[in-house]
Amino acid sequence: MENTAPRKKRALSCIQPSGVPTLGNYLGALRNWVGMQDEFECFFAVADLHAITVRQEPAKLRQQIREMFALLLAIGLDPEKSLLFVQSQVPAHSQLAWLLACHTQFGELSRMTQFKDKAQKHADNINLGLFAYPSLMAADILLYQPDVVPVGADQKQHVELTRNIAERFNGLYGNVFTVPEPYIMKTGARVRSLQEPTRKMSKSDENQYAYVSLKDDPDTVMRKFRRAVTDSEAQVRYAEGKDGINNLMEIYSACTGDSLEAVEAAFAGKGYGDFKQAVGEAVVEVLRPIQERFARYMQDKGQLDSLMKQGAERASLASRRTLDKAMKKMGFVLV
Ligand code: TRP
Repeated sequence: MENTAPRKKRALSCIQPSGVPTLGNYLGALRNWVGMQDEFECFFAVADLHAITVRQEPAKLRQQIREMFALLLAIGLDPEKSLLFVQSQVPAHSQLAWLLACHTQFGELSRMTQFKDKAQKHADNINLGLFAYPSLMAADILLYQPDVVPVGADQKQHVELTRNIAERFNGLYGNVFTVPEPYIMKTGARVRSLQEPTRKMSKSDENQYAYVSLKDDPDTVMRKFRRAVTDSEAQVRYAEGKDGINNLMEIYSACTGDSLEAVEAAFAGKGYGDFKQAVGEAVVEVLRPIQERFARYMQDKGQLDSLMKQGAERASLASRRTLDKAMKKMGFVLV
């Protein structure tokens, strides 16, 4: 029978292979990618070319690329449903990035807040790649003609720039690129630091007790929650000024699916010690299956390589089509 269902919308997103994601990255973003797989035709990539805008150690980079790919599989991204690949294994990304760089203005790039932040942090290495990062990101996106790009609020500016580049290009040469919408995820939990709960949980925090990494073992997770900052009221309730408890309640709610009201009711009359124990246990249970699958993928190098290869081949085909079209429209000679 003919398939009369409307074409699924397309979604694309990428993650840099820089360090192990935190519980915050998972509950706030990655877990939403898993949930998008049925509604959208999804493309997800490990953005390793973006990682080298700051200096990387080769052996470590190699390991981090493999681990990030394995982790995407471990959290439940399914290569049967979605196209999963590593950016550097698909040549069209670098190729289209140059074409788009020639359609991106110096002034536009100078306004990017991520560039300004990173230039400040890495003042000894403000390289051309760091500046041109948004042109490469635009290529990542536009090659696959997605309708939406799920990103955190910090990446919205880059997606807006991508839209401007796409419109500019289409205006000059005819329709080549779908102009995508940023898709700011509304369902994700906003997980904060366990030590300074007014700040976002970050894997680059110097204090290890501030964040939970997806690779933390159960003892470490429990220890980190026992040490989490709370307040002196000793009541598990969600309220202004109770940033530490609010954060723990949100984490617990995101892990168990219980509403904040239900959490409040369940812990009425109980102390913070019991509550922290329960939050830690809920997190351990969320991490357990991910860590088990991750270990299995990392042990089977053959399977991981073959999944990468399949992803690279499919992504190369899809992206080549867009690259060829863009080159032809611009006046390049294809043979
Ligand atoms: N810049 C994104 C980040 O730092 C990663 C990224 C690279 C990306 N290419 C992308 C995100 C394409 C969405 C779409 O988080």
